[in-house]
Amino acid sequence: MKINEKLLKKYSSTGPRYTSYPPATFFDTNFTNDDFKEKIIVSNNEFPQNISVYIHIPFCPQICHFCGCTTETGFTKPFLERYIDALIKEIDYVSKKIDSTRILTQVHWGGGTPNAISYKFIERVTNKLFDTFKFASNYEMAIECNPAHIEFRHIELLKKFGFNRISLGIQDFRLDVLEGINRKPSKHPIEDVVKKISDEGFTGTNIDLVYGLPYQTPKRFDKTVDRAIRLNTDRIVTFSYAHVPSILPRQKILEDIGFPSSSDKALMYENAYKKLVDAGYVSIGMDHYSKPDDDFAIALKNKQLHRNFQGYCTLETTGQVYAFGASSISQLDSAYIQNIKNASQYINSIEKNNLAVLRGYSVTKEQKIIREIINSIMCNYFVDINLISKKYNLTNSELYNSIQFKEDSLEDFISDKILDFDDNKITINESGRLFTRNIAMRFDPLIDQKIGTYSNTV
Ligand SMILES: C[S@@+](CC[C@H](N)C(=O)[O-])C[C@H]1O[C@@H](n2cnc3c(N)ncnc32)[C@H](O)[C@@H]1O
Ligand code: SF4
Repeated sequence: MKINEKLLKKYSSTGPRYTSYPPATFFDTNFTNDDFKEKIIVSNNEFPQNISVYIHIPFCPQICHFCGCTTETGFTKPFLERYIDALIKEIDYVSKKIDSTRILTQVHWGGGTPNAISYKFIERVTNKLFDTFKFASNYEMAIECNPAHIEFRHIELLKKFGFNRISLGIQDFRLDVLEGINRKPSKHPIEDVVKKISDEGFTGTNIDLVYGLPYQTPKRFDKTVDRAIRLNTDRIVTFSYAHVPSILPRQKILEDIGFPSSSDKALMYENAYKKLVDAGYVSIGMDHYSKPDDDFAIALKNKQLHRNFQGYCTLETTGQVYAFGASSISQLDSAYIQNIKNASQYINSIEKNNLAVLRGYSVTKEQKIIREIINSIMCNYFVDINLISKKYNLTNSELYNSIQFKEDSLEDFISDKILDFDDNKITINESGRLFTRNIAMRFDPLIDQKIGTYSNTV
């Protein structure tokens, strides 16, 4: 994909990432544990009916300076044990309010570094999930792993515990880049780790790379992408490094080393895109790539790709997300609920009150419509407004009025050939894929009430 510098300049701005709509910056601290209880019960009669579970392990043996995740270090085993006890208590309490006939289709373990805690703890939680929920026969259970802490026997244990997908945080293979961000390299040759995952019968492996980090150049990052392609995993992600030191002071230290220029960063994106597509991967959203026979590529083809806080998923298999652990975010049809971020405060709250809500948001019918449009723009590069109007029993003009959308507000995108807007269907062209956040912002009536810091849209 060739980047059009003129359009890049024209549409360069800051904006929400739209991992949720409304964005998390709008979540309200007046939302209480009791509100959450009510919303869980309401969610039993909402869609999707499937259940997705997210388990957050906010601990890392060493903190990488580039990291944007909520995580802590310096924990002890007894403290971890209390955290796992709290997780299990929270699962127990919430699941009792969930209709027991509903099917669990997905479990995602994220962090932090879930693979750096004792495997006994991982087993306790997976056993609890299998005892509590009705798993779909083709369920997916994935875990984010830092390869610096992976032993081959761990991969065998994860398989035994019921995991079938592993995501490996590589970021970059170069030692100078890893040292620059305060990160250890893979403990074992990554080729052997990927082979072991495949030999154990996992159905999927994902690799995370990040571009825009100190010491990276387009030529060096090309080599990193080449090596990732040789690993032949079914999914590869190339994240653009998000630098927000005002929210994450740990990132400030990287400014002393310096970053690649924005044109070098754009070149890294462009080259990676070309290499991955030439190697047979299908581009999914801004930064994901998957093999053509992978669920994501098939869902994109059928315009059924979807997204939640954990990343992409398919509309067919995804569920409402019930999240457990400090800082985790539940995504129900009509509410978002985030837990207390600090692990120790989270434990205290669960021990005392069974729940640990920090903030939340009740989503209105109009916001559900906007969410559906924005999700489809971000995931499928296509929106059929006629279908959404029909779903909500509205005419197209009633729908536009209800979300305060003016039909002529996409004209600059149309004249720049970024998108087509015909018969109430929006089709984003290949050159417009970089600007999906800018396009989504045109449907967002909350955009003028900016809360918090937004990163660059491109
Ligand atoms: C929870 S972390 C990964 C799990 C594991 N702790 C690891 O480091 O391998 C999820 C992914 O987010 C990405 N990430 C973290 N901070 C980022 C940032 N500031 N900008 C872009 N991507 C970031 C990294 O690629 C990372 O692998
Ligand atoms: S990138 Fe992974 S290992 Fe590094 S601090 Fe973030 S969550 Fe922890």
